[in-house]
Order: sequence, then C-alpha cells, then structure tokens
Amino acid sequence: MRWGIVGTGRVARLFAADLAHAAGARVVAVASRSAARARAFADEAGLPGARAHEGAAALAADPEVEIAYVASINTAHLADALACIAGGKAVLCEKPLALNAREAGLLVDAARRRGVFLMEGLWTRFFPAVRAAMDLLRSGGIGTPRAVTADLCYPAPFDPANRLFDPAQGGGALLDVGIYPLALAFDVLGDRPERVESVANLAPTGVDRTCSVAMRYGDGAMAAFTAGFEAQGRREAAVLGTRGRLVVHEPMWRPSRVTVEPAGGEARTIESPQPGRGYQHEAAEVMRLVAAGATECPFVPHAETLRRMELMDGLRARWGVRYPGE
Ligand SMILES: NC(=O)c1ccc[n+]([C@@H]2O[C@H](COP(=O)([O-])OP(=O)(O)OC[C@H]3O[C@@H](n4cnc5c(N)ncnc54)[C@H](OP(=O)(O)O)[C@@H]3O)[C@@H](O)[C@H]2O)c1
Repeated sequence: MRWGIVGTGRVARLFAADLAHAAGARVVAVASRSAARARAFADEAGLPGARAHEGAAALAADPEVEIAYVASINTAHLADALACIAGGKAVLCEKPLALNAREAGLLVDAARRRGVFLMEGLWTRFFPAVRAAMDLLRSGGIGTPRAVTADLCYPAPFDPANRLFDPAQGGGALLDVGIYPLALAFDVLGDRPERVESVANLAPTGVDRTCSVAMRYGDGAMAAFTAGFEAQGRREAAVLGTRGRLVVHEPMWRPSRVTVEPAGGEARTIESPQPGRGYQHEAAEVMRLVAAGATECPFVPHAETLRRMELMDGLRARWGVRYPGE
C-alpha cells in the first residue's frame, strides 16, 4: 500500500526505515512545513521516487497516497491529521493522538463522518512479544491479574526548546512516556479505574518532568507507574497475577522479550527479535485493516484512545499543566 509521511523528525525517519520490513508497503510522498526538507528527508531515507510536499494538506491532495502517517509534534497532530482525513486518507497518527480529549474527539468524529480509517500509533500493542503476553494473560497463565507496575524514566537534560519540555510542542512526561504504562494498565485491567491518585514534578516551562500515577479499580486491582525525564529507570513493566508474574522487559514500549514467572514454577522467556525498531508490526496491521475496509483497529479502538486522553486531561488539570489554547 502507498504511504505518505507527514513530518521529518526522528520518529518519521525510524518509521520510514521500518516500512522496508513491512511486506507491500511503499512510501510515495513526504510532507514537511518545508518542501526542501521533505525532499532531503526522502533522499536521505532512500526514497528517491517519493514526492515532496509542503504541508499536510498538499500530501492529503496527492491521489497516490492511501495511508498517511502523521509524525509531527503533538501540537500539530490535530491540524495535520484533520487535513489528511479531509483528503480521504486512512490515518495512522503518532501517540498521543492529540493534545487532549477534545482534540482527539474532533479527529474521531471527522474520521467517522468521512468514513476513513483512523488509529493512534500505540505501536507497543503490535509487537509479537506483547501479543503473546496478552494471549497468555487472557488464558489465565498467571491467574487473575491484580496489579500492573512500571517505570518509564530516562534522563533528558532540561532544554526549554526541546519538544519534551516545551508546552507549545505538547511536551511533558505523561504524553511522551507515561502514556505507555497507562495503556498497558488499560489493556490488562480495563479503562475504568475507580480512583486515580498522582503527583508530578514540573519543569520550569510548566510541563510535567516526572509523574507518578496510582490507580485502583472497582475489584481492588491496582496499577502504579512513574514516568519522566529526570532519572534512568529500568523501563520495564510487570503484571502481577494471583498465580504468577509477567515481566515486559525493557524497553517496555517496544519489547522483544517477555518473561512469565508462574508462582512456584519455572520462568519462561518469550523472545521475538525483529529487524529495525519494530514499527513494521503496527504498519502491517494498519495495511491489513485498511485493505479490508475497516475504519478502526480493535487493538487501539477510538473509545479507548478517548478514555485514555480524558484520564490524562484529568491528571494534567490536577498538576496545573496546560497547553496553549487550553
Ligand atoms: N512511537 C514512538 O515510540 C514514539 C517515540 C517518540 C516520539 N513519538 C511521537 O512522534 C511524534 C514526533 O516525535 P519526534 O521525536 O519525531 O519529534 P521531532 O524529531 O521533533 O520531529 C517532529 C516533526 O514535527 C514537525 N513539526 C510540525 N510542526 C512543528 C512545529 N511547530 N515545531 C517543530 N516541529 C514541527 C517537524 O517536521 P517538519 O519540520 O518537516 O515540518 C518535525 O521534524 C510525537 O507526537 C511523539 O509523541 C512516538
């Protein structure tokens, strides 16, 4: 299928390289705020045949493009994805789908009205090791899951211009990395925690530099995670069950290894290494769904994306983290 890439940053480059490992994928266009940058990106990524566009709207008007991958900064997702939806393209938009639940709702509504595919790029859920882990959990491999724990911390020097720290680029630890353990908790325990407690350290720019979140579900199950830019964490997650433990090894947002530790039994590690970073797994699933005429992905349904955004809005409101326009 014919892909168009919106944005020429780090993730766009990694994704473009991984499409080489997704059977049947071809990049036919790249869009940037600058056509020259789009051209340079295509040439450097070994995509000489790809057309260079200035802006997402130009890519959306390109009849060759079937699927648009939006990899711009968080504050640009809404406008870029809306343009692609308006052009009738299927859209895979990087996480978080948008800055907040209101924006995410606008995107979901627009995609539904236009009848096009839309998915938030929560690529973790498509890794074979994660699929195997979820199958194992659902078949009761560690009994009933009672807790999810995770840390997703790495040190990033404070720089107000870096997108991680800049509110004007949708910065902050929750949207950048906290979203992954939150999504895992939703996967394992559901998207309706009954109680959510949290604390955050804010950067001088006003975005969250580190956050810790604890959630309790109606049946007493728990989830707790710390995510941030101030320390080196183990960057792994664990699901604790009544009959064992499951570890999603680092890096937990793109894992190739999970270990099952049954209580009193022998630990077993499931490994599924892949070439590249692993974006090909979500790309392959998106192509399969779009080819089948689907408008939504069952592994990242719109309702769950919206629910997660609402919960993140609530956390940020409590910490006083606001983005321009909020
Ligand atoms: N799936 C993952 O594991 C993963 C990992 C990291 C990040 N992400 C997500 O991917 C997205 C991009 O992250 P990144 O690390 O690739 O960021 P990046 O290197 O800063 O690139 C972002 C791109 O956004 C475009 N852009 C549009 N409007 C902009 C503006 N006003 N200011 C600056 N750039 C603007 C730029 O492309 P042009 O200059 O060509 O317009 C820029 O190259 C984010 O939403 C992030 O959350 C996902």
